[in-house]
Amino acid sequence: MKRAALVLTGFGNVGRVFFSLLREKADDIQKRYGLALETMAVARAEGCFYSGGPLEGRHVSRGGEPWTKGNPSWREGFRATDVIAELGPGGCLVECTISNLETGEPGMSYISSAFHGGWNAVAASKGALVVGLPALRALAAENGVFLKFSAATAAALPTLDVGLVSLAGARIEGIQGILNGTSNCILTRMGEGLDYTEALREAQDKGIAEPDPAADVGGWDSAAKILLITNTCLDSTYVLKDVHVRGITGISVDFVQSARREGRAVKLLATAAPGRQGVRWSLDVRPSLVEASHPLVHVNGTEKGITFLTDSMGSVTLTGGRSSPRGAAAALLKDIINIYRPPF
Ligand SMILES: NC(=O)c1ccc[n+]([C@@H]2O[C@H](COP(=O)([O-])OP(=O)(O)OC[C@H]3O[C@@H](n4cnc5c(N)ncnc54)[C@H](OP(=O)(O)O)[C@@H]3O)[C@@H](O)[C@H]2O)c1
Repeated sequence: MKRAALVLTGFGNVGRVFFSLLREKADDIQKRYGLALETMAVARAEGCFYSGGPLEGRHVSRGGEPWTKGNPSWREGFRATDVIAELGPGGCLVECTISNLETGEPGMSYISSAFHGGWNAVAASKGALVVGLPALRALAAENGVFLKFSAATAAALPTLDVGLVSLAGARIEGIQGILNGTSNCILTRMGEGLDYTEALREAQDKGIAEPDPAADVGGWDSAAKILLITNTCLDSTYVLKDVHVRGITGISVDFVQSARREGRAVKLLATAAPGRQGVRWSLDVRPSLVEASHPLVHVNGTEKGITFLTDSMGSVTLTGGRSSPRGAAAALLKDIINIYRPPF
């Protein structure tokens, strides 16, 4: 049995679900992949849960809530980097803190120090990747470790695995995606008759949209994803300000409904397309009229989808994948398994 130590940074929606998903799947992962994945520490902003051995649910929470005061496993002021230094190389950081698309922090510091300590990293947060992917990839290579981030690039919908592995040898000539479940859900409900405000409120009531939905409805979450997918699959170095972004906030219900009556749909489409000479690509996020024949036209509700246009494999479309913290946690787990599993 191969053992791998994990340190989880960020214990919000995704971090907590990841912690319990790993325990739910532990036996299966041991049987199928010969892997024992052990969460050795969980870092929050103010300190770490760390007891020197693999953490159980009782070490981190009480009554379903994180438990710090009076908890012998809670170390105020202790940092993920302290744990990594103590455990030595070979583990994997699981980065689930907030996505700050301007500074990249705190993910940038966590991931960089993991690499310096000889640890791999998987990320759900997008900030560090958007701000400094080329530098992080170089640092990972320098330290002989892996950086994977399926959870940051549409999570349970496979995007990078397809672009990098399944399409190997084919030239990618365009990418089109519905990459944000919240805005897609709002547009779908608008097509069914709700106005924008009603559709947003309904999504917030159901816990689909954040109380502050700006990143989703403003298009920035989709922009970060198309940027990361493009840069990774094309080995390019575009930056966030290269993406032209328009969100769905100003969209009229009449426009969405008339498209629907014609069998078409309005979608927040994130696209990457080669420029005229095929040199500089143009990256866009905007509400777009999608034709009835388009493979993404029936991607509704919180579902996501991506189409790769290629020279030798034609157009390849994937849709679906759970859009929730559980889907994101499952994508993190997939990346970890693929780092440590025996070659096949
Ligand atoms: N929710 C989803 O379905 C989903 C899907 C894919 C990707 N993502 C990405 O995954 C990440 C986590 O999402 P989420 O929904 O779990 O967000 P969240 O509930 O806001 O959790 C983020 C957590 O980060 C912690 N944090 C902030 N600064 C920290 C620091 N310096 N050290 C350690 N922890 C720190 C906060 O914990 P404290 O309590 O310690 O302040 C907070 O609980 C985000 O970047 C998001 O964009 C989310």
